[in-house]
Amino acid sequence: MMAKKQKIVILQRDEDDLLDTDEVKEPAAGPAGKTEASLAKEQVQPKDVKVFLRTFGCQMNERDSEIIAGLLMDHGFGVAESQDEAEVVLFNTCSVREHAEERVAGNIEKLSSLKDKKPGKMIGILGCMSQRHGESLFSRFPSLDMVVGPGNIYDMPELLREALDGKKVLAVDKLKRPKKGTDPAYRSGVFSAYVNVMYGCDNYCSYCIVPYVRGREVSRPKKDIVKEVKSLADAGFKEVILLGQNVNSYGKGQTQKVDFPEILEAVNDIKGIERIRFTTSHPKDAGKPLFKAMRDLPKVCEHMHMCLQSGSNKILDLMNRKYTLDEYMKKVDTLREMVPGVGISTDILVGFPSEKESDYVATRMAMEDIKFNSSFIFKYSPRPPALSSTLIDDVPEKIKVERNRELLEIQKEISYEINKKMVSSSQEVLVEGPSRMSKDELVGKTRDNTSCVFKGPSDLIGKVVKVTVKGTSPFTLKSELET
Ligand code: SAH
Ligand code: SF4
Ligand code: F3S
Repeated sequence: MMAKKQKIVILQRDEDDLLDTDEVKEPAAGPAGKTEASLAKEQVQPKDVKVFLRTFGCQMNERDSEIIAGLLMDHGFGVAESQDEAEVVLFNTCSVREHAEERVAGNIEKLSSLKDKKPGKMIGILGCMSQRHGESLFSRFPSLDMVVGPGNIYDMPELLREALDGKKVLAVDKLKRPKKGTDPAYRSGVFSAYVNVMYGCDNYCSYCIVPYVRGREVSRPKKDIVKEVKSLADAGFKEVILLGQNVNSYGKGQTQKVDFPEILEAVNDIKGIERIRFTTSHPKDAGKPLFKAMRDLPKVCEHMHMCLQSGSNKILDLMNRKYTLDEYMKKVDTLREMVPGVGISTDILVGFPSEKESDYVATRMAMEDIKFNSSFIFKYSPRPPALSSTLIDDVPEKIKVERNRELLEIQKEISYEINKKMVSSSQEVLVEGPSRMSKDELVGKTRDNTSCVFKGPSDLIGKVVKVTVKGTSPFTLKSELET
């Protein structure tokens, strides 16, 4: 059984790189220091090599970082509280947009100049950038010591030892994730945990690098998922967030026929777990069986992240998304009918090749029509070998910036309107921690995934409480604890 207290490692999350997002968000109503676990000093051997791990990109990468950290700790490596005191600095990277890669490059260049001053410091690139660029990273960053792809992370302890022996380590040959039994017990949180249900992606949306860097879709056996959630429940975790690039195609290619609603059902039956979330749902595969599970299973939260990407059918087709705007909107209608009060969030991509003003206006109108609770808005960047990189990236940067800005503004107004309607309602909130905005306030999420702050004692952290909404800003509900 896992220790309930946070163990080791710093999984420092680059907040600005959280999804590399341009999401409309109020400054930091999140829990203070949530992703920074502190090191239980007694577990560190004095001679340990201290490792600092920094995570960029999506939730899958966050989960991978926990696995990497857990494996390294289980093999006796130590943990640095900061980059400066580390002998080994590892970047778990993201390739989804040009900007995400540039940020990692900037960090490595900065660190390389330090390395010249302090010989012995080692630098590793892990994750999606490693898979995309492979060996060429060594010539781009001469001071780099390790390049490890997402499928090779289970070999990290041995690979790190090799690097410490002075070898340049390249390990990007296991795109198909190897099965290596139970994952290490280490978790960066104490009441909410990510659980992989599937790896990779088969959708090949034309703009997207993910299938190339994460490989083909592989569903994780139901028994492994259930076992992991049970152990989390035993360790006191209250919430699980089930992860996959397209959870709705779960089960494809498995010998035993199991679909995603069945996974939700099985997890819903696990005692101790109070909330279940999942991400992401591809619109083409989301439908009534999933909506029914959301309606009928009490622990499954009424929130769905379902990426629209564009409101123009021409662009959706070029993106290889396999649905029309009309089909998407019908799904939203059905979802809202079947799951009253459901929160819907989305991703929007502006500036895809050949996106005309009329295509953009179609996206804007779709957003105004659908009224998402929140949206992540991204500016397109070509990601060879993803197919759209063969199209001319013809929307000028200035126009991408303007479209991005305008959609963020529109989303802000919509979120504000939706939140105002929640004033006076009673909401169930899982308390995540102290608010970063105010020391004596707590912050948590409602079932529909809206941030909510309220005054209360810190022993409520990790508990599900009832609050009454008293007011709101565009993105955060201001509430009072119900007695
Ligand atoms: N699997 C998820 C998306 C994962 S990638 C889904 O399909 O629902 C997260 C988001 O990054 C995408 O939804 C898309 O909006 C954005 N994105 C992907 N490739 C991009 C690119 N080349 N340029 C800009 N944004 C991109
Ligand atoms: Fe990328 Fe499309 Fe797969 Fe999402 S579904 S990860 S956007 S290829
Ligand atoms: Fe980025 Fe890799 Fe996730 S490319 S979005 S970290 S799967």
